Formats: sequence, C-alpha cells, structure tokens
Amino acid sequence: MTIQWFPGHMAKARREVTEQLKMVDIVFELVDARLPQSSRNPMIDDIISRKPRLVILNKKDMADEAETARWLERFRQSGTEAVAVNSLDGRGLQQVTKAAQQILKEKWDRMKAKGIRPRAIRAMIVGIPNVGKSTLINRLAKKNIARTGNTPGVTKAQQWIKVGKELELLDTPGILWPKFEDPEAGYKLALTGAIKDAITDQQELAVYALKFLEGHYPDRLEERYGFRSLDGDIPGAYERIGELRKVYEKGGTIDYDSVSELIVRDVRDQQFGKLTFDFSEDQ
Ligand code: G4P
Repeated sequence: MTIQWFPGHMAKARREVTEQLKMVDIVFELVDARLPQSSRNPMIDDIISRKPRLVILNKKDMADEAETARWLERFRQSGTEAVAVNSLDGRGLQQVTKAAQQILKEKWDRMKAKGIRPRAIRAMIVGIPNVGKSTLINRLAKKNIARTGNTPGVTKAQQWIKVGKELELLDTPGILWPKFEDPEAGYKLALTGAIKDAITDQQELAVYALKFLEGHYPDRLEERYGFRSLDGDIPGAYERIGELRKVYEKGGTIDYDSVSELIVRDVRDQQFGKLTFDFSEDQ
C-alpha cells in the first residue's frame, strides 16, 4: 500500500487515531524490528499522550537477533514495555496479552479493589504503513471477530477481535505517517521495502546500503562482494561488484544502474543475512 501523505491526510490520520484511542485501555505501537526507531511515527508520543503503550517489534524473523535483544532492553530501560514477534507464523504473540496485563496491572487491581469485575483489556494497533498491522490483526483474529457497535447513533461499526478471554483488539489499525524529515530514515525505510522505489533514487539508496554494510556488517559485505571496506572509493566498489556479478553494458563497461539495483535487491532478499538498520547504540 502506498499512501501519499499530505498535511491534510496527516491531520485526518491523527484525528482518527485520537478518536479511536478513546475506546481503548492500551496502544500497541507496531514497529519494524529492523527499524525500531525509523519505523516509528515522528509524533507518536504526542499522539498517544499518556495512554499506556506496548511497543511490538514485528518481523523479528528478518532482524538481527542480537540487535533486537538490545532494543528490547533499551525500550524497557526507558520505561516502555516491548516485545518482539513474527506475525507471519505467530512466534512471540503469546507475550502480547501478558505484557498488556502487566502494564495495566495497577489499574486493574484498583478496579478490583473497588469491587469492579475485571473485564477484557481493550487495545488498538497503531503504526506506519507496511509494518505488518493487518498481518498481525489477521493472525490474532483467526475467527474471533465479534461485531459490536451496530447501535443506532454509532456511525461506524467497530469490530472487536477477541484474543483469548483477556484481550479485545480493535479490528481497524491506526495508520500514521513515517518519518519524512530525516533522509537516513527514508533510506532505511526504502531498503526494507516500506517506501516504494518510485520515490527513491536507486543509486543513492545503493550507496547508502554499501556504506551502512561497511560500517555495521563488514564481514557480510566481504562474504558477498569480496571486500570489507570501500576505501572511500564508491566507483571502485561498483566496478568490483559489476565484475564479480558480470553486470555489463553492451560495450563491456560496468552498468552502474544495474549494479545499484543489484545491491538494493541483495539487501532486500536477505543475501547479507538478517540486518537491523537502526543500531541501538547509534540512537
Ligand atoms: P500494514 O497493514 O502495516 O500496512 O502491513 P501488512 O500487514 O500489509 O504487511 C506488510 C508486509 O509485511 C506483507 O508482505 C506481510 O506479509 C509482511 N509481514 C508482516 N508481518 C511480518 C512478519 O512478522 N515477518 C515477515 N517476514 N513479514 C511480515 P507482502 O504482502 O509481501 O507485502 P510487500 O512486502 O510486498 O509490500
């Protein structure tokens, strides 16, 4: 899904999320485990405000495991509970309800003390496009979608998905815009496929990828392309990759555009293994 975000759309998205927030006890902020920082909405703290929150690092199957562990620790140390999941196969999802219960424990205890019978926790998912919101909702939904809100006067039928007895999830996620103002976040989003190629220069993206790999994953760069350092010579690196993979133009010279595409494709196809693009120590 590609959304063109203009100020009007952002304001509308924010309004809708703010409206939905009123119906829930907790927000599940979904981010890409490969980009725990760059795949967050720039105004998320402001939008969620004081509503309790669980950060869910999705697509953990594609991220660098050691980095994911560091990110989880970092979130927790800053006072935000976080879990890592794979929404495609459901791995890690059992932690979601437990974490939500833990976050809301005091409030629920207070309700109990007042004699109020505990009810299911109500939650909604919020995140930028492509982080896996629909996949996660479908995974949790199975066949448990319960239609409510068909009451006269309620304009839009909201559906709650029952996740076990303890959790109910709003079936429509809150869609927020990604970080535009930070070019580095843009490159990272493009390298993971969250932003479509049409709006990114392939060569800029490929050069960013090479520099990133040189800085953070030199062993993997060497394994794939035979060098671990660019020595500040990007054209030289292109020549070497072009020779190695035989990417020539008709006259036998290196086809630079095709090399750029090849580098980006290699990153996306995980030819360098599982990569995390936001390093916790860099943030
Ligand atoms: P959204 O609602 O937040 O916009 O995201 P959506 O669920 O549509 O998921 C975006 C893509 O991410 C989908 O791939 C989906 O299969 C994939 N995805 C979601 N969760 C996970 C996960 O935990 N692990 C992995 N590996 N992939 C996940 P797609 O349909 O192929 O779309 P695209 O990548 O071609 O855009």
